Amino acid sequence: MSTIAIMTTTEYRLPDGPKTPQLFNGLAFLAARDRYIRKLQRRYGDAFAMRMPGFGQMVVVTTPELVKAVFTGKPDVLHAGKDPLGEILGPGSLFSMDEERHLKERRMLLPPFHGERMRSYEAIIEEEALREMAAWPEGVEFASIESFQAITLRIILRTVFGAEGRELAELEKLLPPMTTLGQRLVTIPLLRRDWGRRSPGARWKRMHATYRRLVDKLVDDHLADPGLAERADILALMLRAQLEDGGEVDHSDVADELLTLLVAGHETTASALAWSVERLRRHPEVLRRLEAEARGERNELRLATTEETLRVRPVINATLRKVMKPFAIGEWLVPPGAWVVTGIAPLHKDGRFHAEANRFDPDRYVGKKPDTYAWIPFGGGVRRCLGAAFAQFEIDIVLRTLLRNFELQPTSAPGERESFRGVAFAPSKGGVAVVRRRALDPPPLVEEGAEAEVGARA
Ligand code: HEM
Repeated sequence: MSTIAIMTTTEYRLPDGPKTPQLFNGLAFLAARDRYIRKLQRRYGDAFAMRMPGFGQMVVVTTPELVKAVFTGKPDVLHAGKDPLGEILGPGSLFSMDEERHLKERRMLLPPFHGERMRSYEAIIEEEALREMAAWPEGVEFASIESFQAITLRIILRTVFGAEGRELAELEKLLPPMTTLGQRLVTIPLLRRDWGRRSPGARWKRMHATYRRLVDKLVDDHLADPGLAERADILALMLRAQLEDGGEVDHSDVADELLTLLVAGHETTASALAWSVERLRRHPEVLRRLEAEARGERNELRLATTEETLRVRPVINATLRKVMKPFAIGEWLVPPGAWVVTGIAPLHKDGRFHAEANRFDPDRYVGKKPDTYAWIPFGGGVRRCLGAAFAQFEIDIVLRTLLRNFELQPTSAPGERESFRGVAFAPSKGGVAVVRRRALDPPPLVEEGAEAEVGARA
């Protein structure tokens, strides 16, 4: 006797969720963002299914256990998805890659974003922070985010693009309006078409052509540089890797990847710095301890403060994965074509996973690493933020420069709301600062046996 078992259909099981039309869900999300997601979490539990415009079926998960299942999912089961960001940034962008090609590109790009190589950028970071802060007004309110954007842009242009002189100046002028326009094209696909000279689509084409001209010049200069092998910037690393691969340098891929690193790393880091100012002005006791620490070379409290700021005010509030093959998570089986979303903000504000979750308390991370799946401002797994350690290092040096050179004035004003700026969530008033320049640079207070810990845990 023979039995033939034939599986004809797979029984997909989705968690419960709102049955409202996707347009309604999309509008409710735009209106209330995380408050809407938290409301759904309260009603349906830690995983819920909903439809969203532009995506279709989504499953949102909000516990460390479920987040772990997503972040450890196999790369052929969960893709980044050819999202609109990848389309705008081009095929040479990490955001457009999956599986083998994605892993190979990450392996190539990762080393300079960690360890000694990363720490060699300290002088550039400090120099750029000092240069921008030299123009800070005293005793009046100003939106710190604008300064932080200028600082993080120049840092990326110098450390990643290896730009200097004329190209640095031209890219510095071109990229802010170009990335702002790019963000609008990502949100409204219709705008991407060339509807005539003045249309956003045509403007994007012209700006992108200028960008390509500048990057091509940088690539040619790098290739002509007899010291290419010793150069520390990330463009040099990418070129060396392409040459070692035996291939010709693909200018277009290089341009796509540089733009990706800029878009991913510029506004995010600037927003995190603006949140640091916003939170610290409202927590003078932490500020005082940070000022004392900055007189020496230790940075334990400063690192913990950055981790806590990213917990209470994550600048990216969700990660997305596109399901390519049936994906089992918890008691559910999610079909191909659906999206799995980890809710960063709801998870970070959940008292079950963070004691007194609403309290800003950097001490919770002093001498203690945050939990991999309950603290996820940089996402996780094979798609975890490539620049996470670099961003934490950069924030650390910029904050140290601020604390050493300025007194940040505390305030009793209510906290700033979270406002979406195209890539990241930033303080709604730009992280208002009021500073006084320190009269004298206090001599560094180097404690005996204290070693520089900058980036030690990053
Ligand atoms: C505070 C600053 C930053 C935050 C909060 C942040 C956050 C994130 C998040 C949430 C993701 C998605 C991760 C996932 O899907 O699991 C991501 C991806 C990424 N980030 Fe960041 N980021 C920051 C700074 C940077 C910097 C400075 C760079 C580089 C210069 C960078 C480069 C990238 C890249 C290339 C990816 C895509 C990784 C991949 O798909 O493999 N980020 N980031």
